[in-house]
Amino acid sequence: MAQLIPLSRLARLVGKPRSLLQRMAQSGELETFDGHVSLEEVLRHFPDVRLENDKELARVQEIMDKALTKQPSREELPTAAILNERLRALGRDFATAEGRLLHYERVHGWIADKLAAAVESGEATAQFAKQFSGWLRTELASPPAGLERWEDLVARERILRVMTATVTVVPKGQTFEVIGDETILEAGLRAGLPLPYGCSNGTCGDCKCRVVSGDVLKVRPHDHQLSNLEKSLGFTLACSYAAVGDVELEVPLGGVADIPQQTVNARVRQVEPLGGHRIALHLITPRTERFRYFAGQWLEITVAGQTRRVPAASCPCDERRIEVHVACDAAVAAAEGPFSALQSNAEVVVQGPFGEFVLNDESARPVLLIAEGPGFALIKSLLQHALSLERVPSITLLRKANTEGLYQENLLKSYANALDDFAYVPLGPDASEGASVFAALPGGRDSLPTHDVYAAGSADFIAALRAALFAAGLPEAQWRCEVVA
Ligand code: FES
Repeated sequence: MAQLIPLSRLARLVGKPRSLLQRMAQSGELETFDGHVSLEEVLRHFPDVRLENDKELARVQEIMDKALTKQPSREELPTAAILNERLRALGRDFATAEGRLLHYERVHGWIADKLAAAVESGEATAQFAKQFSGWLRTELASPPAGLERWEDLVARERILRVMTATVTVVPKGQTFEVIGDETILEAGLRAGLPLPYGCSNGTCGDCKCRVVSGDVLKVRPHDHQLSNLEKSLGFTLACSYAAVGDVELEVPLGGVADIPQQTVNARVRQVEPLGGHRIALHLITPRTERFRYFAGQWLEITVAGQTRRVPAASCPCDERRIEVHVACDAAVAAAEGPFSALQSNAEVVVQGPFGEFVLNDESARPVLLIAEGPGFALIKSLLQHALSLERVPSITLLRKANTEGLYQENLLKSYANALDDFAYVPLGPDASEGASVFAALPGGRDSLPTHDVYAAGSADFIAALRAALFAAGLPEAQWRCEVVA
């Protein structure tokens, strides 16, 4: 029975962020084997893991779900076919454990027979045989210290293994959990990975990837047919298949240049006034269609023949939901114009994506996000992506107000309440670009060069900030910015 579990499942098991576990693994504090941890090691570091701790984990997860506006998919059961396969695997594990127990009982009988033979042949005394048998009986009857904790941990891990499966992407080794009845594509996107795909409904074949090890099962119908050669090489369609158990998948993860221009008809879920002349449009794409983009990119929204290029304020990990922040023309009365008059369920056309202001997913450095005014939309998008990836060691968000004030602040406060590795620092409109940034960093000015910095705001703000941060030693390769007017 395997007693090694992947880091992503361990995070769920002990209710800790994966980034924390990764830091522990990188520092050598947590012993890992190919990204897996032994249950003994888990108990050594998290001796208080109990099934009842689920409540705390669920609380943090609920805050995250609300904050990221994700569907609470965690309670969903896998499909009957997947569940059947996972229960079979669990049954096989159980049968193996039962078989071993039976064998050890036999060994116990053999020891008794050997002892009796040794006494009879004079190789052992009757007193030794009696003492040894007594010791063995006592040891077997008294469970070792900590057995209860061990049983609790194993029970919890087995439940997780029935409800979820871990996918490891090779060659880079990113992992994500497939939960409930999700397909591999849905789970990978939710985890913030740029998996390749096109239609997302089994038609185009763009999500083709190769299963290196493990089993997958069809959970959605698909029209695209894999050739016999592709099947024999282990190819599958990520948008139609789910992982039965833990799976290794060979996927070419793409970049901004790999995303084609798309046009999707979406509907307005909600129009959220942000104060001043700005609104957040919460959109949703059709059930069988996703809009492919990176966090930090721009989209074009067309309403009643009027098109605007606007910053995304969501990330693709947010399923079919898209949020954009739109400046309504100040010269027009607030209730006029096609954007200001938008209502729930109205149809809009989404095109794009545009821009290259995206996270450097090769980096393991702490992230410093800095937003000024409407630059907050792109920064919020990057923040959600970084949180979904769960690989960034820590995130600090500085937000400088302009005349529109600091909208959507409750969201940032809920993140800060729920997450140990996220700090939010609001700054007044007069805060300086340099000193206020250095004061907000946990390690002060000296720690600046250890961060990746992403900044979005007005051209003047970006220029002043860039000068201040570069003068303080920020390497150019760790600076990305976008001007948002
Ligand atoms: S994304 Fe088109 S077939 Fe999977």
